[in-house]
Amino acid sequence: MNNKMREAFQKIDGGLFSSVSKADVGDAYDNMQKDGVRLMAWADPFYPDSSIPEHVKKATIKVIENGFSSHYTVPIGNMVLKQEISKKLLKYNGIKADPKRNILITPGSDSGLFYAMLPFVQNGDEIMIVDPSYPNNFQNTDILGGVIVRVPVYEENNFQLNINEFKKRLTDKTKMVVLTNPNNPTTTVYRRECLEQLRDFIVENDLILVVDQAFEMPVFDDIEMVTVAALEGMWERTLTVFSLSKGMGLSGYRVGYIVADDKIMDKLYAATVSVLGATNTAAQIGCIEAMKDDSFLEEYFKVHLERRDMVYNLLKDVPGIVVHKSESGFLSWINVSKLGSSQEIVDYLIKEAKVAVNIGEPYGLQGEGYIRIVHGVLGSTDDLRGCIEDIKKALTKLAYSKGYKGV
Ligand SMILES: Cc1ncc(COP(=O)(O)O)c(C=O)c1O
Repeated sequence: MNNKMREAFQKIDGGLFSSVSKADVGDAYDNMQKDGVRLMAWADPFYPDSSIPEHVKKATIKVIENGFSSHYTVPIGNMVLKQEISKKLLKYNGIKADPKRNILITPGSDSGLFYAMLPFVQNGDEIMIVDPSYPNNFQNTDILGGVIVRVPVYEENNFQLNINEFKKRLTDKTKMVVLTNPNNPTTTVYRRECLEQLRDFIVENDLILVVDQAFEMPVFDDIEMVTVAALEGMWERTLTVFSLSKGMGLSGYRVGYIVADDKIMDKLYAATVSVLGATNTAAQIGCIEAMKDDSFLEEYFKVHLERRDMVYNLLKDVPGIVVHKSESGFLSWINVSKLGSSQEIVDYLIKEAKVAVNIGEPYGLQGEGYIRIVHGVLGSTDDLRGCIEDIKKALTKLAYSKGYKGV
């Protein structure tokens, strides 16, 4: 059966018939949890706590009770939700989007990201992808028949974009740039000057940009979050993918949205029903309330900031590793290369600290030697402290055994 599949699918490792150890497929994590291992490799805020805002919960229950939830919403999305999103886009992203013409609701932003790339990527088109970044960027390109062109970002440059790295990889086959901003796993928020250089490069070379802004909130330390679609010249060539999963803690609602110019959106709207179908009705109604009254975000962001600081302060002096103060979201990206490969460190932490974190490789070639800790996943900040202290103890022990005693 395998050889009947698209080449890209033949290579994919996962599912019931393989021995994958990823959090999102297989039962390896369930088995680890039974063994007392704490899961910090799952970018789902406060999982599995009941952290849903009360008014969102009520609105969702109401639509279930009045029976409306068993019906479709039009595939392109609930108009009231799109109106609320349009207000948010103007206020937060500096984008003027017509709810009727420029916004498409998607079942989460993973499907949105794939759908945004789908109309454009085919037959050997070269797609520039920042490395490291979200694994789906690479896999989507592969599935669609594009050629992955990795554009590295480096720790020495705080993982910021360097436009020369794009320029030297440009060919007449380059079609698209895919950007995760803020980046997952590094949490880097790309600075305005880098993004303006990228804009010039994209416009000059008539490229398309897909930007995934799933992690646009929260951003820390007053760093400016620039939405590239709002930069002059970018609106007509940018598809921006958003999500309510990370920034509002509503991952299970499966609501995301794509924002694009009319000409692109016409095509997306036309094909939505046959590719994505409609997003869940009750979830969209709940999300309307979350967007109308988002006062719960203040506390939500505060917790993530406290956690960011706690993890950084606890781990920064562990010898032999480099911890980056996260600029956004709820992840920590740590260079452990002096202590071992990322797989070795992850295996070691499972045994020694009873904590499961992510290996760096799925995020790109630059991910080797790094681990990703999802410090937003645990429900309790005290439990988080316990996990991080255990990680600290384990890594310090390992560092000492390898002769690292100072920072
Ligand atoms: C960068 C990034 N984009 C998109 C997604 C997809 O999120 P969702 O489908 O829940 O909107 C994720 C989830 O981990 C992510 O990390």
